[in-house]
Amino acid sequence: MPSDEEGSTLPEVESAPLVIDVEFTEVEEESTAPSLDAVEEISTARARRPLDLPRAQPTPEGRARVVTVINQKGGVGKTTTVINIAAQLALRGHSVLVVDADSQGNCATGLGVDKSKVSATTRDLILNPESAVSARHATAVEGLHMIVGDRSLVGLEQEMLRQLGRERRLAEALEPLLPHYDVVIIDTPPSLGLVSINALVASDGILIPVQTEYFALEGLALLAGTIREVRGLLNPRLGVDGVLLTMHAPTLLNQQVAGEVRETFPDLIVEPAIRRNIRLAEAPSHGIPIHLHDPTSAGGQDYQAMATVLERRWGLA
Ligand SMILES: Nc1ncnc2c1ncn2[C@@H]1O[C@H](COP(=O)(O)OP(=O)(O)OP(=O)(O)O)[C@@H](O)[C@H]1O
Ligand SMILES: [Mg+2]
Repeated sequence: MPSDEEGSTLPEVESAPLVIDVEFTEVEEESTAPSLDAVEEISTARARRPLDLPRAQPTPEGRARVVTVINQKGGVGKTTTVINIAAQLALRGHSVLVVDADSQGNCATGLGVDKSKVSATTRDLILNPESAVSARHATAVEGLHMIVGDRSLVGLEQEMLRQLGRERRLAEALEPLLPHYDVVIIDTPPSLGLVSINALVASDGILIPVQTEYFALEGLALLAGTIREVRGLLNPRLGVDGVLLTMHAPTLLNQQVAGEVRETFPDLIVEPAIRRNIRLAEAPSHGIPIHLHDPTSAGGQDYQAMATVLERRWGLA
C-alpha cells in the first residue's frame, strides 16, 4: 500500500493517441494494406529466419501414402485442396481415401456425402479403431472414399485425454486400410490440437497450403516446431511433401508474398500456385469437386497441374 507521503493517487498514465481518436474517412483499398516498402522490409527479415522443414521419404512398398493437409491458420484452402487433389487422383485411376478430421465436416459437403445419413464418423474411428472398414463411404467421385468428420468431433480431444496411446489412435485405426488404397489424405482443423497430432502421427507426408496474403508465413514456425516434435517423439518417418500457394491473385502484394514463400521453401514448393477462382468456391455447393463442376476453369487447371506434380512426388505416376 502506498504511504500517505507518497500520495494516495496514482500518477497520470501517459496518453497516446487512441485508435478511436482517428478520424474515419473513406479510404482507398491500398491504404489499408501495408505499404510495399513495409512488405519488402518484412520479407527480407522473414526470409533470413530459417524454417527447417524435413523432406518426406518415399512410401513403403505395398501401402497407401498417408498425407495430412495442415496449417493451423484458418481459411487458407486446406479443405479445398483435400477435395480437389483427392478427386483428381481418383479420376486418374488411383484409389483414394479422404479422412476428414475437422468438426466443420466440409469434405463431406464438397464430395456430395450427406452427413446426416452417415452412421460412423472420424470420431468413431478414433475412439474405436475397429470401425475403420465400416466407417468408409462412397462419394460423388468413383474410386474416392471418405470417412466423414462432423460436429461429433467437438469435445473429442477432451475425451481422448483419458486414453492411453492417445496420439496414435488414428494411425492404428488406418493401418488395416492402407494396403487397399494408393493415397489417404487427411483434412485437419485450423488448430494444432490432439486431433491434428493424431493426423501427423498417422502420416508419411504433409502438405502445407499457404495463402499468398500478408502474414502468410506467420505461424509456420509453430507448425514447423510441432512437426519436429512429432518426428522426434512419435513418428520419425514424418516429413513435408510440399508447400502450396493458394488463392493466388495477380496483385503486387500476392506476387511479393508468393516470392517470399518460394524463397523460404525452394525445395518444397509445389507449382503452380492455385489461383483465386470463384468456380472453386462454388463447387462445394453442388457437392462436387472442381473437375466435375468446371474442369477448364483456372482453379480446375491449377489443381490438375498440381496433382500431376504430387503424383510424381508420391511415386504414383
Ligand atoms: N483458390 C480459391 N479461389 C477462391 N476461393 C477459394 C479458393 N480456395 C478456397 N476458396 C474458398 O475459401 C474458403 C476457405 O477455403 P477452405 O475451406 O478450403 O479453407 P480451410 O483452410 O480448409 O479453412 P478452415 O481452416 O476453416 O478449415 C472457402 O469458402 C473456399 O471455397
Ligand atoms: Mg477446412
